Amino acid sequence: MELAQKIGEIKAKLGMDVTDDQVESEIRMSVLSLAHQIGLDPSYSSRLLNLLLIESVGLQRKQKTVEHASSHMDVLLKAKQIEASGMPMVHLEIGEPDFRPPRSIKDAFVNAIDSGRHRYTDARGIERLREKLALIHGFTKETVMVTPGGRFGVYASIASLLKPGEEIVVIEPSWPAYSDCAALNSVKVKTIKTTLENQWSPDVHEIDNAINDATKMIVLNYPNNPTGKILDTDTNERIISLAREHDLYILSDEVYSKYCVKKFKSIAEYNYDKSIVIESFSKTYAMTGFRLGYLLSSAIIVKQVAKLLAFAMTSVAEPLQYCALNALETDYVTNVEETRIRLHTLVERLKKMDVRFTIPDGSMYVYPRINAKTLDDNTLVNLLLEKGVAVAPGSAFGNSYDKFIRISATQPAEQIEQAMNVLETCLSKKI
Ligand SMILES: Cc1ncc(COP(=O)(O)O)c(C=O)c1O
Repeated sequence: MELAQKIGEIKAKLGMDVTDDQVESEIRMSVLSLAHQIGLDPSYSSRLLNLLLIESVGLQRKQKTVEHASSHMDVLLKAKQIEASGMPMVHLEIGEPDFRPPRSIKDAFVNAIDSGRHRYTDARGIERLREKLALIHGFTKETVMVTPGGRFGVYASIASLLKPGEEIVVIEPSWPAYSDCAALNSVKVKTIKTTLENQWSPDVHEIDNAINDATKMIVLNYPNNPTGKILDTDTNERIISLAREHDLYILSDEVYSKYCVKKFKSIAEYNYDKSIVIESFSKTYAMTGFRLGYLLSSAIIVKQVAKLLAFAMTSVAEPLQYCALNALETDYVTNVEETRIRLHTLVERLKKMDVRFTIPDGSMYVYPRINAKTLDDNTLVNLLLEKGVAVAPGSAFGNSYDKFIRISATQPAEQIEQAMNVLETCLSKKI
């Protein structure tokens, strides 16, 4: 431990990154060769090495004096404080639609309680809801599980399917929850960086090279938060065939599946038995506070993940599951259409500014790179906050994206216009 701390101090002094993939890969090769000599299982040896690396990286990070990147939630809290002091704020920092949830779910909730449907349920969810979701997606009810939000689906999948020291591949920029959930479970994260120049497409060879004996899962999130990217079917197929070859899970977070400008094909349609598709009522039906989502996988995986949910919380609240059942009968297309208009407004305004970005294929965000040499994302975010506009810093989605900001198209077009005028003024002053 002392040695790791000292190494951390030296790296901090030299301004070096704590992790170095090349060095890690060399250490792994030596460890595996040693393990081979003494007859130790390569996968187990790799896990042991990862536990040491996780511990060492954690200690070295503590030596770093730089502040941890602030998240979109940090910005939300700051924005709320400023608002409380009387200044109006345009909230474009979080991915929460401003629409009302379907009106009919109120009756569904009351009816459920009035008719005694307010009890513990099967950890996988009530049968009627699972049957309905199965019908929608072409699954069976044994392969569907209701979760308290998409986020819990992500957490429960990582926590129940992976062992400490195992490894997952995450494509950045990325919603931070995958890495956070992995860290909480002592699972190591290998990141694959994507770039604006490559239209945010991951290099499949790079994913292949990142896989080692401890790797057990590839995480996908398309339509993507923050870039709005949707992968083409060829890339999906190549990633699935890699997963098949190495017997890996694919955790595909598709909570923005209804918010598409371009055609989107779910990973659920590829018939890969180790895929777990995460879905949510939060974005589709503007039901963020209801905490309702579901996952689609094989019956074996569903059973395993449901065990964790049962241990942690028994089941999702029964009356809320009836709200979900009701929501599935309602129209979401109006929200999707409105978001598309808002995204279009945002894109058209950004086109007139000194920023570069890809036009989103889906989701509800634009992720532009600012072109100011001396300005980083957090400085710009703070400047905008002072002027009544909240956006998320790009580095909240990966540490090499500090010239980016994420703007959510979750407010009416007029407010987006107004906020973009403020952004344009800040950028044109080249602050
Ligand atoms: C990619 C992604 N997945 C999941 C979630 C969380 O969804 P839920 O509200 O269903 O937990 C979010 C929320 O912003 C998200 O951006």
